[in-house]
Amino acid sequence: MPEFSTAQVHAGEVGDAAHGARVTPIYLTAGFEFDSFAHAEQRFGGDDPGYTYSRSGNPTTASLERRVAALEGGREAIAVGSGQAALTVAVLGLVKAGDHVLSAQSVYSGTRGLFETGLKRLGVEIEFIDRPDDPEEWRRRIRGNTRVLFGESIGNPGNDVLDIAAVAAVAHEHGLPLVVDNTLATPYLLRPGEHGADIVVHSASKYLGGHGSALGGVVVDRGSYDWAASPFEHLTAPDDWLHGDSYVGAYGAGAYTAFARSVVSSLFGPVLSPVNAFLIQQGIETLSLRLRQQSDTALTVARWLERQPEVAGVDYAGLESHPSHALAQRYLPRGAGAILGFTLAGGAAAAERFYDAVTVFSRMTHIGDVRSLILHPATTTHAHLHDEVREATGIGDGLLRLSIGLEDPTDLIADLERGIAAVATAARARATTTPIADTRLVAAAGN
Ligand SMILES: Cc1ncc(COP(=O)(O)O)c(C=O)c1O
Repeated sequence: MPEFSTAQVHAGEVGDAAHGARVTPIYLTAGFEFDSFAHAEQRFGGDDPGYTYSRSGNPTTASLERRVAALEGGREAIAVGSGQAALTVAVLGLVKAGDHVLSAQSVYSGTRGLFETGLKRLGVEIEFIDRPDDPEEWRRRIRGNTRVLFGESIGNPGNDVLDIAAVAAVAHEHGLPLVVDNTLATPYLLRPGEHGADIVVHSASKYLGGHGSALGGVVVDRGSYDWAASPFEHLTAPDDWLHGDSYVGAYGAGAYTAFARSVVSSLFGPVLSPVNAFLIQQGIETLSLRLRQQSDTALTVARWLERQPEVAGVDYAGLESHPSHALAQRYLPRGAGAILGFTLAGGAAAAERFYDAVTVFSRMTHIGDVRSLILHPATTTHAHLHDEVREATGIGDGLLRLSIGLEDPTDLIADLERGIAAVATAARARATTTPIADTRLVAAAGN
């Protein structure tokens, strides 16, 4: 493969034979015309692999799929309407009712919701690993019906780095695939497949698109897992739709992608608009430049935050103080990404003052944007979780999550200084209040 920065602007592009357009065009069409009765029949089951209907495939979307597959070093990819859709397609391409999924504890709250609420209702059992950095725990909790091991390369928002090679080794000992959500790292910082992951998932709404304008998701099959020798009977057993052939028989190493595309994605229908495929493709062309700068700025910001007396702790794997720092040095030599959390010693009240004081950071539930963003997870994305789950996933009342964008680090730190000043001013005011007022504040805090 060419170097990353070359691949990000060239891999998978489609030439425009009609007009010579240099940029892959947006093929905004519901379907594709057939020349004749025989041509239609060929497209639907014969030897002509051309397009039929945009829910099953579209040239703009296919160009994006080839590009992400190339950047991840994968065999092939499926692009869908959001990161959640990608997670759904990836997992439903593997499991059925009665199967068991083992997931790292500190995954994105939407993923936890999908597993706990969505998949559990379909009869899929889900268990969360308390110590994802301990391969023994993964090994111990594998059961006869376990079909998938799942984790995030960099956890959102705790920043714990998955020891992909160690977890992949456990998965492969049991003949199971490891699925890794690589949204926070992107293939520029880390390619999970090079360390043993078999399927890689992205929310393309984040860094791949980068501009916060379009939702999308991608599932990449690395091509490393032997579907023919797998416990996945829906891929190895004869199938009516294939006139008695199996997906492995009909598609060989492409069996999983063929099933996930034609049954899960195409029939459940979480299709990606070709316009969004185009926007995400445009974003990918500057991925390495953005991630390099955003990671550098995130480290500068994390170091600055760590020095503030009002800050009790900073969750950023690029910091020596983070429990995942050694793993970050091993897996993320180009930078530890641009999402970080920090906890204000003053708890929820301090977080509220800080949050309302910033003017450059946008108050939003989103990450991976060129703009810097701030969120209070405990009262927003994680508000629905039970206290013990929030505690286990490190979501305290004083925690704020930052997604570092492309603004100048000086302006970002000046903005964070505004937040710190708001917290410090309130603390000073509290220290000089009369004992009667103090009693009132303590009572309010206890409610
Ligand atoms: C790690 C991770 N995976 C998946 C998703 C879901 O992506 P989307 O919002 O595109 O559905 C998110 C969203 O924040 C995320 O952070």
